This record gives sequence, structure tokens and C-alpha cells, in this order.
Amino acid sequence: MKTIMIHEMPDHVGETVRIGAWLSNKRSSGKIAFLQLRDGSGFVQGVVVKEVVGEEVFSKAKSLHQESSLYVTAEVTEDERSSFGVELQVKDVEIINDAVDYPITPKEHGTEFLMDHRHLWLRSRKQHAVMKIRDEIIRSTYEFFHMNGFVKIDPPILTGSSPEGTTELFHTKYFDEDAYLSQSGQLYMEAAAMALGKVFSFGPTFRAEKSKTRRHLIEFWMIEPEMAFVQHEESLEIQEQYVSHIVQSVLQNCPLELERLGRDLSKLEKIQAPFPRITYDDAIKFLHEKGFDDIEWGDDFGAPHETAIAENFDMPVFITHYPKDIKSFYMQPHPDRDDVVLCADLIAPEGYGEIIGGSERIYDYELMKQRIQDHNLDEAAYEWYLDLCKYGAVPHSGFGLGLERTVAWISGVEHVRETIPFPRLLNRLYP
Ligand code: 4AD
Ligand code: MG
Repeated sequence: MKTIMIHEMPDHVGETVRIGAWLSNKRSSGKIAFLQLRDGSGFVQGVVVKEVVGEEVFSKAKSLHQESSLYVTAEVTEDERSSFGVELQVKDVEIINDAVDYPITPKEHGTEFLMDHRHLWLRSRKQHAVMKIRDEIIRSTYEFFHMNGFVKIDPPILTGSSPEGTTELFHTKYFDEDAYLSQSGQLYMEAAAMALGKVFSFGPTFRAEKSKTRRHLIEFWMIEPEMAFVQHEESLEIQEQYVSHIVQSVLQNCPLELERLGRDLSKLEKIQAPFPRITYDDAIKFLHEKGFDDIEWGDDFGAPHETAIAENFDMPVFITHYPKDIKSFYMQPHPDRDDVVLCADLIAPEGYGEIIGGSERIYDYELMKQRIQDHNLDEAAYEWYLDLCKYGAVPHSGFGLGLERTVAWISGVEHVRETIPFPRLLNRLYP
């Protein structure tokens, strides 16, 4: 008999099938046992009736330990109450591995304990749902960019230059040279955009940030589109369409997962382009009106500022035109002002913070050279990047979306540590 998966069961009602599964929980009495089974594709209940299976199989089922692995042979029957609309009438149980004393029991555990057991914690219903939503965001990302004529490009992870400043770099030796783990693939993506027009990347990025907040990871994944001949305004339009697309895709394709997480769907259903825009200048004025006296023009926003701004909207909001001194060296100046740049951060609703940072890029050679010098960057390491301004430079824009913050927002989970399979945090490299 072929082994099938739980999500395929609705097509097998009335048949006897065999599944490979783990026991996530069980209840039993003298005559009947209810096995909560999971196989990665979903969860299903198996009913074991002593009179049907006989003494031997029934006592085996009754003695099963949580997270033991099994082959279960059973008839698939309809059951409207369950997530896939089916239940299993168990005929036989074969134990593959008896898991004794599984550490994560149905009782409550502290965060540190769960984080130490992340390799097992991933099996829980909540974590399963978050990983499925992460996967759907990745799938719909590729769908969106491929539908719109972008080419997927993979920038290097080991680099000799840094786009986002030099303080948060992970350093390593590259034989006799110095190398850094990539904080962003952007500069390479700019080179790729000059070759392929519209490109996007999806890969891990690393920041040695000493931040211990619910929004910061040391290793996180970024989606970085870069677009030749696209200027600031058009880039914002692509960003809002992209974010709307992934939210609507999760709503459509992950209803069971959103329900399991208790996500308020009405908040997600509203997320449709266009998104509101507010300039940095107006955001500062607004914060002063709200009584924030800890921030002045020229300062970067902290989490409480972003949250206060986002609270005015039930959509993500773009904050545009930041002061040039608090942004990266490569950002194109405003055409009429030399103190602000053509950039935007996209702030998610409900306090999830900045999910996108992006800008139009400088393409004038002299200006780029000046900015590299102003930022005390090692010119030799940026020689190739300056070539892009020399040989057929064009206006172009790009942005980076932080995957884990986006998963946190769409799933409604409090902390980014639950949005990546094995989080790398300040003070955590295990497991
Ligand atoms: O705003 P950032 O630093 O922008 C860049 O790196 C640009 N080079 C991207 C580009 O234009 N191609 O980072 C982009 C996004 C942030 O908006 C945030 O969502 C996420 O990456 N991010 C982090 N996520 C988790 N943990 C961290 N430590 C993060 N730092 C940034
Ligand atoms: Mg940023």
C-alpha cells in the first residue's frame, strides 16, 4: 500500500490508506483512543476502537508516547469538524521509533526553554503554521517578480565592501584577505540591473547589531529588487503592489494557518495598494504634536516613533525623504533640496516596524565618488561599483524587504525569533 499524506486525504474518503506520522497528542479511555497525528502536511485525528482493532493493537495505541513516529493504516472517513474534513478509523499501528520523555509537553514552557529546544519546538502547531506562512510569502514573492519581468539573481555572501556602513559587519579571513558576511546584496544587484534590467534577490544577510529587540535578528533574509530606469515614485508603486500581493496570497492560500494563529483577518483583508505616504518632515511635526520631545529634525526614528506614526493608518505607511546624513551613501539627493534624499521606509501596521528600506540610487560619477569619500569608505573596494556610474549609468531604484519582520506582521506573532527556523540572536547560536 502506498503511503499518502494527510493533506491528500480528502481525495481518499472511503479508502483504506497508510500514512507515516508522528503522534502529537492522544486521549484514551478503556475502549477508545484518539490519536492526534501530524505528518508535516497537516494534522488529523485517528480513532482507535478496541472492539475493531483487537486487544494487541489497542494496547499498543494506548501506550504510545508523544512524538513517537508511526505507520498508521486506516480508513478515511468524512468529519466536518476537522481541518481537512476527514478523520481516520485506525486499523493498524506500527511503531517506527518510540519517543520516550519528549521534552516539550502540552503544558506551558518558558521562552528560553523553547528556544533551547528549537529543533523540536518547530514541530508544534503554532510554529508549523508560521513556517507555512513564511513559505507562502517566499512563493508569492517569486510569483510577483517573475510575473512582472524580474530576473532572480544571487549576490555573493562573502564580500569585500559594505552597502550599509561598516560598524555592523561580521569579519572573517578570506585566505590572506579580509572579508565580510553580506549585510545586503544591493550593490551587486545594481550591477545586475544594468545587465538584466529588473532583478530581485532572496538570500541571507548578516548584521552584528547589538540590538535585543523583538524586531532584530543577527542573520535574516532579505528580498532585494533593483530596477533600471525606475525612479523614486514608481519604485514606491512597485513596493505597495508587491506587499499587497503577498498579503493577499497568504489570505488565499493559508486560511488554516491564519486561523490556528488566531490572526485578525479583517486587518489583512484591507491591505491593498495604494499605501499612504508621509514625508520625514511631516512625520517629525506629527510626533511633536503628539508630545514626543525626544526627537528632533535630523534624528532617526526609534520603535516608539514608528509605532506612533503607523497607528494613524490601517495600512503600511511610507515615510519618505529622510535627511541625507542618517541614510546610506548611495541615495540620490532630492532634486530641489540638498538636505534630504529620495528614499522611503515602509512601516507595517500594528507595531511591527520597518519592513522595507529603499531609495533611488546615485548614478552621477563625481557625486558617487564624493559620497564614498564623505563616508570614509575604502575607495579601492568600491572601484567596481564606481564603474557602474562610468559605463552607461542610468536612473535606477531598489529596495530591501526584511522577510522575518514581514512574516511576523502577517502571522501576527510578537517576536521575529519565531519567524525563522533557527534564529540567530544576540547571545544565541544554539541550536
Ligand atoms: O533598511 P535596510 O538596512 O536596507 C538595506 O539593507 C538596503 N541595502 C536594501 C536595498 O535597498 N536593497 O534593511 C532592509 C530591511 C529593513 O527594512 C528590515 O525589514 C530588514 O531589512 N532588517 C532586519 N530584519 C531583521 N533583523 C535585522 N537586524 C534587520 N535589519 C534590517
Ligand atoms: Mg532601514
